[in-house]
Amino acid sequence: MNRKVVGSILIVILLAIGGWLFINSPFYNGSSQYNGSSQNGISILEVGAQEAGDRPVKTFDLTAQETKWELGDGKKVNAWTYNGTVPGEALRVTEGDFVRVHLKNELGVPVTIHWHGVILPNRMDGVPGLTQDAVEPGESFTYEFIANDPGTYWYHSHQHSAEQVDRGLYGSLVIEEKEPEYDRDEFFILDEWATRSRDQGAFNMGGMMRGHMSGDGEMDTKQLYDTFTVNGKAGDAIETLVMEEGETARLRFVNAGYQQHQLVFPEGSMKVIANDAEEINGEQGSSQVLEIAPGERIDVAYTKQGKESEVIAENPGVEHSEDMRIPVVSENSADSKINWTVSSGSDIADGTTYGSEELLFEETPDPDVTYDMDVSMGMNMGEGMSFQINGETFPNTSPIKVEEGDIVKVNITNSGMMNHPMHLHGHRFQVASKNGKEYDYPIVKDLIHVRPGEEYVVYFEANNIGEWLFHCHDNNHAELGMITVVDYQGVYSPFEIGGENQPE
Ligand code: C2O
Ligand code: CU
Repeated sequence: MNRKVVGSILIVILLAIGGWLFINSPFYNGSSQYNGSSQNGISILEVGAQEAGDRPVKTFDLTAQETKWELGDGKKVNAWTYNGTVPGEALRVTEGDFVRVHLKNELGVPVTIHWHGVILPNRMDGVPGLTQDAVEPGESFTYEFIANDPGTYWYHSHQHSAEQVDRGLYGSLVIEEKEPEYDRDEFFILDEWATRSRDQGAFNMGGMMRGHMSGDGEMDTKQLYDTFTVNGKAGDAIETLVMEEGETARLRFVNAGYQQHQLVFPEGSMKVIANDAEEINGEQGSSQVLEIAPGERIDVAYTKQGKESEVIAENPGVEHSEDMRIPVVSENSADSKINWTVSSGSDIADGTTYGSEELLFEETPDPDVTYDMDVSMGMNMGEGMSFQINGETFPNTSPIKVEEGDIVKVNITNSGMMNHPMHLHGHRFQVASKNGKEYDYPIVKDLIHVRPGEEYVVYFEANNIGEWLFHCHDNNHAELGMITVVDYQGVYSPFEIGGENQPE
């Protein structure tokens, strides 16, 4: 590395430290900005109440606790978990159920639970400082919502997510259809761990600079994470999937990490069936490689091709890919040797490849509100490295101000050099176009992966009153500013961002 490069990395680090000191100083009032909505109208605690009525009630207890967790290969981490495992307890309910979850916090830091992708009342959304106060050590909180929309979801802490999700505070949530289409149904959560660094959750400034220079959209985290996991386990420790030749299963994938992952399937074995809990339009074909962005969820129908073992595995071109391989074996050959050969395939499906079965808008609608969202990385004097929306960092980003019933158009443009998986709470949007070209098959989602230079136009209906985050699901980027709020007129949040409430 030449001197100039070292010099500029040093400057960046100094700026970042300066920014950190400033943010933690008494001169910075984190609670002032977004809540330009002031305390007008009614509190979000008074809107959208849901009652169980005569619905079946499904009750769960989730305890946030510290756990020594074995990833495999003798690698142990001090994980933070819901109920002692990574992922936390797997939650399965049926559409129409009334879900009640008692969260108890036995960690030494405040936590919450956010129900990623679930359309629910605002005050059940689990965002500290916006929809509730963070749940303090020793305290409890009860979440309640109706499981209306079948599909794949996950839950995770939304308190200081860059650290808490990274340490393992996440789990799966499936809302099953009343009559499931597949007999076999499996859930896989992908993640990365930094076992070499004592500081899981630390941010890699040097890697970020190198990435910025080399044009890789994820170099900020790639340097740091040395172990990939599927359902909290790496390599040989990953549970084998036992299936017979010709058997089909619904496999639900969620990416809880910081990096996009490409899973390669045996040729002809996989069809994408849902993106972010929205079924895809049935007439579309199969692919061989599944690309999942951070925070995203994609379901596939997978059919075991032969009698012999086969493998669903991370693209072998990626460092640490050997950690992320799911072996599929037949019952009677379960102890014969697994064939680890990963097929080669270039036919990639990501979260936008296939359109959705049910659209929010049949035609491109006329928006009542248009918001231009330019996402980028920046460096401000005194604030250090930041991830910005329209040149500002949260909570100074301008909110998306809406009235109930508005059609909202958001033009998301990535003018920076990092990937930004942008996620909207409490709503789904329709992805109408990419780089100025309209989709023949629009996609209904709640997360859109925006790569450097890309521009997406999304539409949603403001039909769930409250105060909702719209943010980058690379939680490090969120922490460094890439968050805004969909701010409904007529309601306000009685909570305050800052102090114990760290919503990013
Ligand atoms: Cu997965 Cu703001 O959340
Ligand atoms: Cu980002």
